[in-house]
Amino acid sequence: MGKIIAVTSGKGGVGKTMSTINMALSAAKSGARVLIVDGDLGLSNVDVVMGLQPSGTLKEVLEGQVTIAEIVAHSPLGIDVISSGTGVTQLANMNPLSRSFLVHELARLPNSYDYVFIDTGAGISESVLTLNSTSDIFVVVTTPEPHAMTDAYAVIKVMAEEYDRRECAIIVNQAINDDEGKRVAARLAEVALKFCDSTVHFAGTVPRDGSLVRAVLARQVGAEGSLSSLCGQGWSQSWCRILQLLNSGELSTGSAGLNSVWDALSAPPSGRQNIGL
Ligand SMILES: Nc1ncnc2c1ncn2[C@@H]1O[C@H](COP(=O)(O)OP(=O)(O)O)[C@@H](O)[C@H]1O
Ligand SMILES: [Mg+2]
Repeated sequence: MGKIIAVTSGKGGVGKTMSTINMALSAAKSGARVLIVDGDLGLSNVDVVMGLQPSGTLKEVLEGQVTIAEIVAHSPLGIDVISSGTGVTQLANMNPLSRSFLVHELARLPNSYDYVFIDTGAGISESVLTLNSTSDIFVVVTTPEPHAMTDAYAVIKVMAEEYDRRECAIIVNQAINDDEGKRVAARLAEVALKFCDSTVHFAGTVPRDGSLVRAVLARQVGAEGSLSSLCGQGWSQSWCRILQLLNSGELSTGSAGLNSVWDALSAPPSGRQNIGL
């Protein structure tokens, strides 16, 4: 069965989608079969950033308009993408028939993929947290900015206290250099260990790179050249480390599979707000 990697953050705009796509690209380049599930119900945009035009979204599957097989978009880079579309209400209120159909279809997906990446969306809403809890590993993305760090810590803390998930990986994005990335990760690891008995594994640093912004504007993220940029190297090194963690048995957690991913996506919104510490 494939491994599920949830990419999450406390604060929005820190680079989850970029991290998801670029790590998926690293995995695909080494020959793995890779799927990205866009779980960001509020700001779903993996397809847009990758320049894909999916023929449908999970929302439309629920409405009975298309099947799940039909909405898997195939990127020329060897990555498949399932877009969620926006519409939390429809996802929450699906009819039992389509629900059991979807669960059945989704349950078959891990067999077709080596790695399923979930771009979860930001914050500590129930659906984000549950998506994290269904993963084999959840990867917290932060920047060195104090707000991003405190919100990253909030996710780590809630995952430990409410889901008993006391291990995660961290990517420090938009850092000035590797030293800054290491400092940020070490600080978070120290606090997480001390206050919630949680182990934070440093996956890697990704520098700020203006050309990435231009690539996004041109919808060229994930193009061949991306991995050779400094950012691309940061993300592929991070993926190597995460792969090491997944394969070494160092992690104490296991995945509940894609059925629970679907449950998480379709959970009614909890109304809980993101908290800044
Ligand atoms: N390392 C980086 N260097 C420069 N710009 C970046 C970097 N990482 C992300 N960005 C930019 O920051 C913005 C937010 O990134 P995104 O991945 O969409 O964040 P999120 O998914 O967490 O909301 C995008 O415009 C993206 O191009
Ligand atoms: Mg995003």
